Amino acid sequence: MAKRIITTDLTEEDKKIEGSLRPHTFNEYIGQEKAKETLKVYIEAAKNRGEVLDHVLFFGPPGLGKTTLAGIIANEMGAKIKITTGPAIEKPIDMAAILTKLNPGDILFVDEIHRLNRQVEELLYPAMEDFALDIMFDKGLAASSKRIELPKFTLIGATTRAGMLSEPLRDRFGVVSRLEYYTTKELKSIILRSAMVLSVEIDDGGAEELAKRSRGTPRLANRLLKRVRDYAQVKYDNVITKDVADHALDILEVDSLGLDHTDRKILNCMINTFEGRPVGIEAIATTIGEDPGTIEEVYEPYLVQIGLILRTQRGRVAGREAYRHLGLPVPESVL
Ligand code: ADE
Repeated sequence: MAKRIITTDLTEEDKKIEGSLRPHTFNEYIGQEKAKETLKVYIEAAKNRGEVLDHVLFFGPPGLGKTTLAGIIANEMGAKIKITTGPAIEKPIDMAAILTKLNPGDILFVDEIHRLNRQVEELLYPAMEDFALDIMFDKGLAASSKRIELPKFTLIGATTRAGMLSEPLRDRFGVVSRLEYYTTKELKSIILRSAMVLSVEIDDGGAEELAKRSRGTPRLANRLLKRVRDYAQVKYDNVITKDVADHALDILEVDSLGLDHTDRKILNCMINTFEGRPVGIEAIATTIGEDPGTIEEVYEPYLVQIGLILRTQRGRVAGREAYRHLGLPVPESVL
């Protein structure tokens, strides 16, 4: 698949900029008010009792700040953080090695926690519940196990797919927090803050335009800011105004709602090929030559969020806004 400018995956370029832009305290962190309020209470309570924070699970679409929040929690707890991801921990022994190296009060952040394999996940149950590791010796009749105590720690898990987490694992998190897409106003504040950190000149109209086209996602907002800055540097006087942002984003083929070529292909397929009737992901995927999983996880959530795709019991349908956005007449029958 060609690289989309609006991919929410973490790219090498993002890693460079996210490091410098990442807020370190709740005060600097814009948006996710509900998650922040809940976390602040739990953190204060844990600190007052001199205990570790309960295990925390973040879920929601990529690029909304799960890793950033984990870093802030560590900072606010005065704790060290070890960062890893589900697929990187292949065997129970790898997880055991990580857990036994933790110090009391440390935070272990596991991104993409839904991708842990079953055996590794099962090792986590006693680790999370009793701060203990059960090591098995031999198999069959000769099997025995030995329990090793672990330091008290906090596990922070992040997943884009809460539905794929097993129930026993989900139940062991004391705090479960759903991250939401950001509003245009919040994204605008994030863009203005990032521009200040990066010494980029941008006016209010420029920030607003970038915010509107960032699909509710700070990772995209920061990436687009950087691209448009390059454009402003070469073609204009270094200042990002609404016109500069408009022009640069048109060239990058990110439209007024932040949609790209594939998003529009999906909508076109639903409206034209399937004539607006309810349709399944598989049918759309086959028609436009995309992977169904990619459509479901990457493209669809935002199209649903802004009401261009409606999920009904009979299947997906394009909403009125989708017709309007593509400049097509809206049939009477459309919801
Ligand atoms: N940069 C990325 N996400 C941010 C956020 N939520 N607040 C402030 N700056 C950010």
